[in-house]
Amino acid sequence: MEERPGDERPQLPPPSLWPVGFAVGIVCLLVGLVISWPVAAVGAAIALVFGFLWARDVTRGHPEAAETSALPADQGPPAMPESEPAERFPRSRFLEGATLGLGALIGAIVTLPAAGFALLPGFLKQKQHKVDLGPISDFEENKWKVVTFARDPTNANISRRTAFVRNNGLLNGVPSFTIISNRCAHVGCPVQPGGPVFQKEEKTIKTANGEVLLTPVLPAAGFICPCHGGSYDQEGNRIAGPPVRGLDRYEFDIVNGRLILGDLYSVVKVEGSGKTARIKKVELHGPGQHADGPESWLYPLQPPH
Ligand code: FES
Repeated sequence: MEERPGDERPQLPPPSLWPVGFAVGIVCLLVGLVISWPVAAVGAAIALVFGFLWARDVTRGHPEAAETSALPADQGPPAMPESEPAERFPRSRFLEGATLGLGALIGAIVTLPAAGFALLPGFLKQKQHKVDLGPISDFEENKWKVVTFARDPTNANISRRTAFVRNNGLLNGVPSFTIISNRCAHVGCPVQPGGPVFQKEEKTIKTANGEVLLTPVLPAAGFICPCHGGSYDQEGNRIAGPPVRGLDRYEFDIVNGRLILGDLYSVVKVEGSGKTARIKKVELHGPGQHADGPESWLYPLQPPH
């Protein structure tokens, strides 16, 4: 049908890739919150860049529309009559920008507090309980003990943990200890010492953190997991079975001659043994998580324990 002067054609916005890029950035950000901070940062950067370009287009107007109005009269729709000059800031553009801006603001007000309350507490540094394991004189040099203690003395019944502790003797005049968690690095079953446990020599001591149970043990064959056959050497390195890394370890301090247990950390590898061992440590990983290599990027972020 032939166009006649005076016909009005709606000025639709030209198709734009900015909203698509913005959506991709948001998806990347949400996926990153589950798997890793670098992915979340890339997603946030993509969302910011495309969001900015999108907002700039919306607030600046549609270039094609401007081009159309600049065409000669015989190549496009007629210009507005002289008596009605075109609006410099059309109301439609203002309403479009205001709708998007208000939508974004309301979305942020509704979602950010809920997301913050739901996600942040797990990732904020939580206070770790130091645990007094008693005087170091209770740990004979180069002997292993199975030590059972309450991580949180106010919730002793549900926070009992077990660690394998060996006094390595002095290193540069300072007592050295190896303290290995009994949580299997596969799916978290309690590993057992590969050797005799001397129950009759068991000793209970009272500390500021409640009762601590010390049981001498001789893990000559390292540590073995009864669930799926995971096997570790005496330094906690994985030597067989499904675990993807070695056993976690505890930090420790010596305070007034007492052994104080600190935070848990994960271990990529231990070279050497005892007080001269070189430990490649990383922040605490969950059961089943690789501690190094590309696979380690694929696991959910780990809240502090
Ligand atoms: S939980 Fe230890 S090997 Fe599976």
